[in-house]
Amino acid sequence: MSLLLSKANIGGLDLKNRVAMSPMCMYEVKNEDGILTPFHFAHYGMRAIGQVGLIITESTAVDPEGRITKNDLGLWNDEQANKFKELVDSIHYLGSKIGVQLNHAGRKASDAKHPVAPSSFDFSDNYRIPEELEVSQIHQIVKKFGQAAKRANDAGVDMVEIHGAHGYLLHQFLSAVANKRNDEYGGSLENRYRIVQEVIDAVKDNYEGPVWIRLSLSDYDTTGTQNTMSEWQQVSRWLEADGINLIDVSTGGLTDDAPDFPVHDGYQTKFASQIKQAVKIPVSTVGLLDNPGLCEYILQNNQADLIMEGRALLRNTNWLADAANDLHDHDFKVFNDSYKRGQK
Ligand SMILES: Cc1cc2nc3c(=O)[nH]c(=O)nc-3n(C[C@H](O)[C@H](O)[C@H](O)COP(=O)(O)O)c2cc1C
Repeated sequence: MSLLLSKANIGGLDLKNRVAMSPMCMYEVKNEDGILTPFHFAHYGMRAIGQVGLIITESTAVDPEGRITKNDLGLWNDEQANKFKELVDSIHYLGSKIGVQLNHAGRKASDAKHPVAPSSFDFSDNYRIPEELEVSQIHQIVKKFGQAAKRANDAGVDMVEIHGAHGYLLHQFLSAVANKRNDEYGGSLENRYRIVQEVIDAVKDNYEGPVWIRLSLSDYDTTGTQNTMSEWQQVSRWLEADGINLIDVSTGGLTDDAPDFPVHDGYQTKFASQIKQAVKIPVSTVGLLDNPGLCEYILQNNQADLIMEGRALLRNTNWLADAANDLHDHDFKVFNDSYKRGQK
């Protein structure tokens, strides 16, 4: 049996395979209330029927002003949480695990009335200049992560992922490219990490299950301002000490720049494997991992512990069954006998 499609305990979760659906914004909350719609039940349900071990929902805002767009999901009120519980129950019924990615978009909150950020610099010419956060406002945002985590807890989600990547608020704090503060939340790496530590504490105080974090390990910055790999390894050791159960490694999103390194199948996995050298907790990898053989190679060679699939699962809800064929994994089971009749 392949490692990719066999059971594992990863990041505090018992999973039926090592494939997770990477969080992907769908912008389908047409009436702008942050509440799941029938679209989301069908969208995530199809991936559960496709046997994805863990589904991580799209970026879900902890505050209306922290949405990437007004069509995002939210967990800032109980009505949203009640609907989330229904989704959790339905994904469990279909046999998969489900987590939520909690986010505040900071200066990339494109529909916010007053976008906020660690410092008053815009993301690009197409975005507004954000207001620099006062320390009391930082404390409020940390509290909102905790309150959203409590709602996730009550909804019964299997894990919470803190979005610390792709140029959203926590990434903006972590990177000196966007964080020019000179108070306790800026300057040294330790200071830039402070809000992340506070968010982890707030989430863990309110949520009983595993807490993961997504990081961007490159800002595609060529000026020498971005964190070095050894700084990211230090951040990872702090995350481990602060109780994070898995580090989900991605890159980019802080600026409009394109990657300053070759983009090819598995192009982000080298960053994950370098984080694995620094910590004992598991690490996941994402990015152009459509080829099941490559995924198996990454797992066999201990470069990462879990594979996140994004666009491949948008193209093909049956990706795992196709992967089983590619890998000659005869132990893989499709959803039920009726679906088995549909296999070649
Ligand atoms: C439509 C779309 C929406 C996305 N939204 C999110 C998101 O909400 N949160 C996140 O962390 N990453 C998001 N991403 C990035 C994906 O999770 C993933 O990291 C990226 O697509 C690379 O993986 P892939 O090559 O398997 O697609 C999004 C990607 C796509 C294509």
